[in-house]
Amino acid sequence: MDASASHVVTIDGPAASGKSSTAQWVADTLGWQHIDSGSLYRAATWARQRQAGSPEGWTEASVVAAAANVSLRPEARAFYPVAGDLPIGDAIRSVEVTADVSRVARMPGVRAWVNERVREAARGRDVVVDGRDMGTVVFPGAPLKIWLVADPWERARRRLTQRLERRPSDEEIAAETDEIVQRDARDATQTVQAKDAVLVDTTYLTQPEQVERIVALARAVVQKR
Ligand code: DC
Repeated sequence: MDASASHVVTIDGPAASGKSSTAQWVADTLGWQHIDSGSLYRAATWARQRQAGSPEGWTEASVVAAAANVSLRPEARAFYPVAGDLPIGDAIRSVEVTADVSRVARMPGVRAWVNERVREAARGRDVVVDGRDMGTVVFPGAPLKIWLVADPWERARRRLTQRLERRPSDEEIAAETDEIVQRDARDATQTVQAKDAVLVDTTYLTQPEQVERIVALARAVVQKR
């Protein structure tokens, strides 16, 4: 591999398509670092929730101000959001944050704040970055862009199997599919497929298979450069 330049692989796609876990696995295999851009939208939402007021009244300026002391801290395998010096941890995955994050992610000022943090983190490093618009808005020049999709039913089935640690019923999958489709609709404007992205449909792929495919693509582009 070309050791002189830093590299960026972007992985974008809809909710629950396995982007973050796939991105981390690809980064681990390549010996690169993972940046989850969604973690910053979640951290900004978490920071604003700790202040007073209902989400309906949140202004863009108040969210950006609440997020002012949030940054991305580099660790060996990935970047994690911290508030000041304190890791935010799993609090960004709470039901409350998940409920309000789409509203926050639609604010242009918040998007600019996230994009700057992500570009700063990636500077001079080899990274796998995942999100919705990494290949279009944040790293339009990335040499490899992946558009990761899967059938909504299959995304729902995987998500529930992980959450419940058992085989979900069809009724449970149907209800979760409805949630996923609604979430896709809420995030649709931000979720953009780059024209030069490689489509990876994971509906009928295992996770090792999808990781292998993306790693092979990454190695191919790095060797060419
Ligand atoms: O991928 P996730 O569920 O952690 O994303 C959280 C929210 O942030 C979701 O509403 C989509 C939004 N998001 C975005 O608009 N752009 C990104 N690059 C990443 C996430």
